[in-house]
Amino acid sequence: MSQIRLGIIGLGSMADVHIKGFEKIEGMRLTAVCDTAMDRVQRITEQQRDVRGYTDPRKFLASDIIDAVLIVTPHKFHPQYAIAAFERGLHVLTEKPVAVTAADALAMNQAHAQHPELIYSVMFQMRTDPLYRKVKQMIESGRVGKLLRVNWVVTTWMRTQAYYNSGSWRATWEGEGGGVLLNQCPHNLDLLCWLVGMPTQVVAQIGVGKYHKIEVEDEVNALLTFEGGATGSFITNTAESPGVNRLEIVGDLGTIIAQPGGTPVLTYYESAGSVSEFIATTPQAWGKIASNLHAITPAATDWGHHCILQNFINAIRHREALIAPGEDGLMSLELSNAMLLSGFNHSQPVNLPTDHAAFDKLLNRLIAQANQKKK
Ligand SMILES: NC(=O)c1ccc[n+]([C@@H]2O[C@H](COP(=O)([O-])OP(=O)(O)OC[C@H]3O[C@@H](n4cnc5c(N)ncnc54)[C@H](O)[C@@H]3O)[C@@H](O)[C@H]2O)c1
Repeated sequence: MSQIRLGIIGLGSMADVHIKGFEKIEGMRLTAVCDTAMDRVQRITEQQRDVRGYTDPRKFLASDIIDAVLIVTPHKFHPQYAIAAFERGLHVLTEKPVAVTAADALAMNQAHAQHPELIYSVMFQMRTDPLYRKVKQMIESGRVGKLLRVNWVVTTWMRTQAYYNSGSWRATWEGEGGGVLLNQCPHNLDLLCWLVGMPTQVVAQIGVGKYHKIEVEDEVNALLTFEGGATGSFITNTAESPGVNRLEIVGDLGTIIAQPGGTPVLTYYESAGSVSEFIATTPQAWGKIASNLHAITPAATDWGHHCILQNFINAIRHREALIAPGEDGLMSLELSNAMLLSGFNHSQPVNLPTDHAAFDKLLNRLIAQANQKKK
């Protein structure tokens, strides 16, 4: 198949990262760019004369010079552009999160279902990290057994006030629809669901503007319940340094501890047998089941945004299986919407899938309150 003609909408800092990565991508060329800010468009078209620029998203999507769209605008615009693109017969790769609300993510999935011939993917590049690929492979090959507990402390997302001040949409209910859960943690929430499935219930405590002058959450402490009775926790904030990033997945047959970083650490404790069986059957009052420690080195393979983009292009050209289907974008939003619903309702338990109308109502109230304060 000939080269895929790609258009990008939203030409901010993340678009720059994607454009830099294009040299690694085979089978595509950039043909059009769009941003509502003219200077952003000119910055690209002056460097790349064969790329056509648009400030009107409708003209961009109707241009007939693109086969696929990469959506890199603030999150709340992702749904409208994805749905309009599907209607124009365009393949879609959207940045994370696919939307702000689970209801919008569902609408995107439904719009895609009307056009199953089109490819729809989401930029969850952490799924290509060899560390998490290895964890997934170990779970799928049965090395953990029945899930008992999953805990993720991820507090390495420190952000400064200057970062939050760098864009008027950032860290506002109206512009972004949330804080650390919507901007930094979609990756972790996605990985959590990808690895062990979506929880069935969430209880959360949130800190709103606790460490920064922002109107959204910058701290979350959540307890999770999974089908089958497994429990978990998810702890994050944007105020610690250096922070901790430690994922523990504990099962009846083994425990995985994954710690990313310059030198990723992947530890596997392999139980000599089923722990639950041992507990039930051993005659020893102080019996311990043996476990072998394995320090695993994940393969040093290339990973990152460009891998998701290459996979998207390959899916269009050769029907390669998607690493991150767009439909999966719903899971992390169900989880983040549930944490906010619980956090704003005195830590009441919230069942998943969430009550979409209840979350929309909460978000509209938070937007109205924030706007009222600004008056
Ligand atoms: N995958 C990742 O690791 C990763 C990392 C950073 C950001 N992101 C995501 O990328 C998206 C953009 O983030 P960013 O940091 O580049 O933001 P940014 O503010 O730097 O850029 C956003 C751009 O979108 C343009 N824009 C705003 N409203 C628009 C509209 N209605 N139509 C067209 N263009 C519009 C703005 O003019 C700006 O140029 C966000 O959804 C964010 O979550 C993903």
